[in-house]
Amino acid sequence: MPQPCSVVIFGASGDLTYRKLIPALYNIAVDGDLPAAVSIVGFARREKTDEQFRQELEEALRKFSRQGLNDHIWSDLAPRIFYHRSEFGNDEGYRALAERLDKLDAERGTRGNRLFYLSVAPSEFEGILEKIAGAKLNESKPGAWTRVIVEKPFGTDLASARELNSVVNKVFREQDTFRIDHYLGKETAQNIMVLRFANAIFEPLWNSRYIDHVQITATEPLGVEARGPYYEGSGALRDMVQNHLLQLLCLVAMEPPTDLAADSVRDEKLKVVRALHRMTPEEVATNVVRGQYQAGAINGKEVIAYRAEERVDPKSMIETYVALKVNIDNWRWAQVPFYIRVGKRLPKHGAEIAVQFKHAPSVLFNRDETDVGPNVLVIRIQPDEGISLRIQSKRPGAQLRIEPVKMDFHYGTSFGKASPEAYERLLLDAMSGDATLFARRDEVEEAWDFIDRIEHAWHKNPTPPPLTEYASGSWGPAEADKLLERDGRTWRRL
Ligand code: BG6
Repeated sequence: MPQPCSVVIFGASGDLTYRKLIPALYNIAVDGDLPAAVSIVGFARREKTDEQFRQELEEALRKFSRQGLNDHIWSDLAPRIFYHRSEFGNDEGYRALAERLDKLDAERGTRGNRLFYLSVAPSEFEGILEKIAGAKLNESKPGAWTRVIVEKPFGTDLASARELNSVVNKVFREQDTFRIDHYLGKETAQNIMVLRFANAIFEPLWNSRYIDHVQITATEPLGVEARGPYYEGSGALRDMVQNHLLQLLCLVAMEPPTDLAADSVRDEKLKVVRALHRMTPEEVATNVVRGQYQAGAINGKEVIAYRAEERVDPKSMIETYVALKVNIDNWRWAQVPFYIRVGKRLPKHGAEIAVQFKHAPSVLFNRDETDVGPNVLVIRIQPDEGISLRIQSKRPGAQLRIEPVKMDFHYGTSFGKASPEAYERLLLDAMSGDATLFARRDEVEEAWDFIDRIEHAWHKNPTPPPLTEYASGSWGPAEADKLLERDGRTWRRL
């Protein structure tokens, strides 16, 4: 159970508050994990009363909450939610916030503990942090704590991430800084470590001797939606790979930590990012495929090309799909490629990690003409969360016929309840001071160092590799298939 505290959301009139943050806090309350002494303060520019804010949130909960709205729980939570109107650059607004938080501490027993959530565009971070410091809101009272959660994107390259880190760490200590990566809050991502280290059977096989390659995939039918200006400065590589997909890769590839302390786990992840082979421009041309969606159809509905989307440059060179072959230069993973692919406007929403083992030796059942195919361990991150293992089995009958079958574990049926949303777990952890599922400064910077080489080969190179095209509703550019075919492999169908 986390300690009593005030949660202050900067940018409280934004989408994230309505779709994710308040639903997460509400569901924590439904599950009985929200201490009675928690106050939630929304800080934003629009004129609004506490009552109006609460009404809007109630409507949002009806739409977006994982569990239906329970009047009893909501009538208990709603009076603990407040709205604080201020410009982000107004000193007086922060001074008044400090007073209001002191008052809440006295009236509601929140004990001076504060969690600030920066749910704003990165361009606002610095200004808000300065004002927080100006009002001494970053200084903890005796026996209390003060923490900050920072939303992505955390920089757009190594230089900007470093700059941002130094801005944040001027105001908050690193151990009080929680950089969100919502993929780490997904139940299935958390289970990767349990699968690997709570079971004795996988770890002896988890290396280049037994594993042929790993595929990490995240696909979505959605296009860029209303986020044109953000996406134009980002693209699939920075939006998804730098953070979410590399985090998954780290969980699969890391060494066992010595204990479960946040820094022990993050030290091991850092070593993986450091060992990622940095690509030369020539290697980028061979090992990375970028694509952009064209018009097409998703589930029978016609959709427009990326360049025709609202507030997108009609000549945009931004990628909405990327597939890459990554090598990890360490003893465990030498010669085991990790293939990563992500894309928008693909047929399905899903994310999975597939660990493909080497073929059985070519004797007995596995002679050349009757190759029985390899074992594959699939970790389904979403949807239908679970794990399956493909093994070979004899088909019943007088003849010897071997066919692949699946041993399949589904969270839904095994545990009989839906998994909490990522933001629920992450907010609870930040309130409890557990940073294990948050990205650390050095880890973020190393990831940018890896990504920057690819971005430079695309955008700062006189002869950049082509931006390929793919029809919306297809599985991505043909070049991505060739990337694997060249190595005698194929992408898994989701
Ligand atoms: C976000 C990206 O971080 O993750 C989006 O900015 C993307 O572009 C989203 O759609 C995907 O998240 P999920 O949880 O739906 O896989």
